[in-house]
Amino acid sequence: MSRGAGKENKPQENTPRRVTREKATHKIRSHKFQSVTPGTQPKHHKLWTSFVVVIAVVVAMYFLKPEKTVNLALHNEVVPFRFYKRHCSQQLLKEMHDYPNCIPKQCGRFVSDSLVSSEEVDILLKTAKSAIGLAGSSGGASIVDLHSGALSHKDKFINAYSILEFRKLLTKEFLGAYKAIMSKLKESIAKNFLIDESVLHLTRPTFFSKISNITAKTVHDEYWHSHVDKEQYESFHYTSLVYLNTYKKDFEGGRFIFIDGMEGNETKFSVEPKAGRVNAFTSGHENVHHIERVVHGTRYALTVSFTCNSTLAVDTNFATRYND
Ligand SMILES: *[C@@H]1O[C@H](CO)[C@@H](O)[C@H](O)[C@H]1NC(C)=O
Ligand SMILES: *[C@@H]1O[C@H](CO)[C@@H](O)[C@H](O)[C@H]1NC(C)=O
Ligand SMILES: *[C@@H]1O[C@H](CO)[C@@H](O)[C@H](O)[C@H]1NC(C)=O
Repeated sequence: MSRGAGKENKPQENTPRRVTREKATHKIRSHKFQSVTPGTQPKHHKLWTSFVVVIAVVVAMYFLKPEKTVNLALHNEVVPFRFYKRHCSQQLLKEMHDYPNCIPKQCGRFVSDSLVSSEEVDILLKTAKSAIGLAGSSGGASIVDLHSGALSHKDKFINAYSILEFRKLLTKEFLGAYKAIMSKLKESIAKNFLIDESVLHLTRPTFFSKISNITAKTVHDEYWHSHVDKEQYESFHYTSLVYLNTYKKDFEGGRFIFIDGMEGNETKFSVEPKAGRVNAFTSGHENVHHIERVVHGTRYALTVSFTCNSTLAVDTNFATRYND
């Protein structure tokens, strides 16, 4: 797995301040380093040499530090819109060769707190809790996918549409909110990755997830491994997440972490979930990520995926399809 692709980040204007500060620190340190010209002050040569060594060690320690974490979005801030640009990975570009109009003009990730309203989040959260509450995994991670009907039940999945109580949850109000969010996500992804909305299609899996600190029982409960969405799900080209509750308030752990750079020299970018926050990104190797283990409380989110392959498109007319 190559994490090297796209390591030359190009933060844009609205990249978080800490990125800029790191750069500034780097500049200041480089400047000090360069201003020391051995030989110009023969008397203090040894002193200067030690000084240079000390500075070099400090700089090396700083940059060789195995992990740097940058906060892309904190739970207690409002992020109207924030984009972080990445070079598209070669794998993604190669894979998308068949869909020229769907190739992002820029890859990366964005966070926005202004796409989904608090009323919409309330409706989604209420339904997700009730739906998963009808069954649920015996491990720490449960899902329900309205498109396929997959619902976690103990150590496997059952068809949620076979449960009358589940079908009753799909009220007009819920379906209205769900469809509205799907179309806002699609529009926003098209706009920010600079493609035409008509080439994007909602696809599977698109699901609600519930994560708690219960010990994992099957591989489906192990959400914390770092991965690339495109490798896990062939159909994915663009991934989006809508958080339904809030880090620190409703649960501890469970931050979403992007991992950039080579192994041993990684920069982590955390997105702290917050009710209504959208986190969207291109699904290739430019966005290796994982979710931190939830250590306390329960985390709810909605994963919405989009594909460029129209044969993999799904629609949102669940009620007409299943309630016969
Ligand atoms: C670590 O990664 C940064 C960019 O993220 C790069 O500038 C730096 O040269 C790398 N250091 C090493 C030792 O590879
Ligand atoms: C799991 O979370 C619950 C609260 O949600 C807490 O009471 C419990 O101590 C946690 N268990 C572990 C092992 O951290
Ligand atoms: C689109 O998906 C279908 C169904 O999985 C597959 O047969 C087809 O090869 C895909 N198209 C491309 C261009 O990959």
